[in-house]
Amino acid sequence: MPGTVDFEKQSHVGFLYLNNPKKRNAITAEMWQDLSSLAGKISQDSEIRVTVLRGRGYEAFAAGADISQFESKRKATESGSDYDQLTEKAISAVLEIPTPVIALVHGYCLGGGLSLALACDLRIASTESSFSIPAARLGTAYPYRAIERLVKQVGASHAKYLLFSGSRIDASRAKEIGLVEQLFSKDDLDKAVDSITGTIVENAPLSVKTSKFTANQFSGLTDSPDYKTIYRLSKECFESRDYKEGVRAFMESRKPEFKGK
Ligand code: COA
Repeated sequence: MPGTVDFEKQSHVGFLYLNNPKKRNAITAEMWQDLSSLAGKISQDSEIRVTVLRGRGYEAFAAGADISQFESKRKATESGSDYDQLTEKAISAVLEIPTPVIALVHGYCLGGGLSLALACDLRIASTESSFSIPAARLGTAYPYRAIERLVKQVGASHAKYLLFSGSRIDASRAKEIGLVEQLFSKDDLDKAVDSITGTIVENAPLSVKTSKFTANQFSGLTDSPDYKTIYRLSKECFESRDYKEGVRAFMESRKPEFKGK
C-alpha cells in the first residue's frame, strides 16, 4: 500500500499522521502533496487551535523522503528541483499554519523527516528517538531552506556536524543541542503531548496566534519583521471578548472560557 498522510480532528486538536509504517514512514511524493493540502485545510479551519504531526506506529516519525522514488522523480537537475519544490511547498504549508504545530517524535526522524519536524513550532520526542541528515551518504543536497531552519535552531556548528557526518544522534544529544524541546519515555510521550495540547487549547486562541506570528517574525528566518501585522493582531487581542473574559475570570477566581473572538 502506498503511503498516505491522514488527518483527524478531535475537538480543537488536529492530527496529521505520516502513514507509511512499513517503510519507517518514508515520505513519498504523494505524501508531500497530501501534506500540502491538509496543512492548507488546517490553516482555514478556525476550530483548530493546535495540531500534532506524528508518524503512524512507534518506529519512526519519518525516515526521510522515500528514496525508492529518487531515481524516477529526483534524478536530473530539473526534476530534482521539481521534487525539492514539492517538499518545500509542503513544508511551507506547515510553516504557514497560524496556530501551533507540535511534532511528536517517536523513533527515527531523518532527512526530510527532520526538516519537517523543524517546520513545527515544538518538537516533543521519546527518549528512544534518533535524528540524522543522511544527505552526504546519498550524495543529495539537503534543501537550503531546511539548512537555514536547522542553523537557526541549533547553530551552525551542530548543523554542520549533522550535515557533514550524516551520523545519527540520540534523543538526549538532540535535546542538548536544542533540536528537541522535551523528552519523555515512550510510554509517557502521548500523555505528555495530550497535556501540552490541552493547555494550549484552553488558552486564548487569538493571544496564542499572535504570539506564534510575532515569535516567527523574530526567528531570524524573515528578512524584516512584519510590524504592521504584529500591531494588527495585538490590537485584535486587546479588542477581543476573550481579553475581557480572561481578566474577569482572574478577578472572579474562576477558569476562563475562551472562544477565539
Ligand atoms: N525511503 C524508502 N524506503 C525506506 C526508507 C526511505 N527513506 N527508510 C526505510 N525504508 C524501507 C527500507 O528500504 C525497508 O524496506 P523493505 O522492508 O522493503 O526492505 C523498510 O523501510 C525497513 O527498513 P530497514 O532498513 O529494514 O529497517 P531498520 O529498522 O533496520 O532501519 C532505518 C531503519 C531508517 C535506519 C534505515 O531504513 C535507513 O537508514 N533508511 C534510510 C534513511 C535515509 O537515508 N533517509 C534520508 C532520505 S532523504
